[in-house]
Amino acid sequence: MQRVLVTGGAGYIGSHVVKALGEAGYEALTYDNLSTGNRWAVLSGDLVQGDMADRDRLAGVLADFRPDAVMHFAAAIEVAESVRDPLKYYRNNTANALNLLEALREAKVGRMIFSSTAAVYGIPETMPVGESAPLVPINPYGASKMMTERLLADFDFADTDFNYVALRYFNVAGADAQSRIGQDYQNPTHLITRALKTALGEFPRLQIFGTDYETPDGTCIRDYIHVDDLAEAHLVALRHLLGGGRSDIFNCGYGHGYSVRQVVEVAKRVSGIDFSVETAPRREGDPPALIADSSKLARQLGWKPRFDDLEHIIGTAWNWEQVLADRKGR
Ligand code: UFG
Repeated sequence: MQRVLVTGGAGYIGSHVVKALGEAGYEALTYDNLSTGNRWAVLSGDLVQGDMADRDRLAGVLADFRPDAVMHFAAAIEVAESVRDPLKYYRNNTANALNLLEALREAKVGRMIFSSTAAVYGIPETMPVGESAPLVPINPYGASKMMTERLLADFDFADTDFNYVALRYFNVAGADAQSRIGQDYQNPTHLITRALKTALGEFPRLQIFGTDYETPDGTCIRDYIHVDDLAEAHLVALRHLLGGGRSDIFNCGYGHGYSVRQVVEVAKRVSGIDFSVETAPRREGDPPALIADSSKLARQLGWKPRFDDLEHIIGTAWNWEQVLADRKGR
């Protein structure tokens, strides 16, 4: 059985990938400090509670578990927070990735999959945006991830035994089809989550940030990808590396987008609740449209998404939000 160490495996995206690893016959070991992740979210393999800043702990886990590959999810992810507290982002997302790389070199683990983001592109000049577009992040979150990509590229160049895949996620949404796991942040900021929590009465109304963008209905357009399709992208990247494949970078999205108003409409239809919506000023740092050219992932690694359907994405998120609301109500 091939072994995969998953940092941040108790978080939203990491836990869906741990589930997929288990289903595909890999042995996963989650390494997570549980600052935003949850023990119950780890559906496959063991969990070690540890921090990415703890070099000795990481080294010990690598020596004991001897993984064939590492997937690195553990990171801070809020754009607005990164503007207020940039050092937290350079520490968590860049410096801790350097810790991990040093530990991997020491333990002779030569394969890594890295969670990057569409935020590395900033406000792209062409749309859909391909992997070769310039990297011009407009916030510390995107910059912290871009710097880690650079670390990986330089280390890859210097070390012939090391190969990595960086996956640039677009707007990840949805939840496990059986509602066992899903997004569970303390202060959710994501559109689909906010909309569905508004439907459940957890927020009085949903604000639409900006209605004067140069888009067909004036609201921002995003490429929403189901978290289980994103998990599958990690599996094809893993097989690529385990099969001796070279380092590479791939966008993860569907190649088309929906506006904020379209998302709100589908959230109302799926939930059956006509929740209250108001228009609000633009949110700082929001690009008008962000759509992936993800043809490279399909072409080179044979990725076949199964859930490219906004209704389905929001449906699984809605089922999950109801599970969460029931849990909290008890
Ligand atoms: N939005 C609203 N109201 C809300 C929440 C969001 O109108 O209550 C709008 C935003 O302004 C934006 C769109 O909905 O236009 C999507 O916003 P999200 O917060 O759901 O997602 P982002 O596109 O801002 O963020 C995503 C990822 C980040 C990543 C970023 C890249 O979650 O990790 O894309 O730009 F950095």
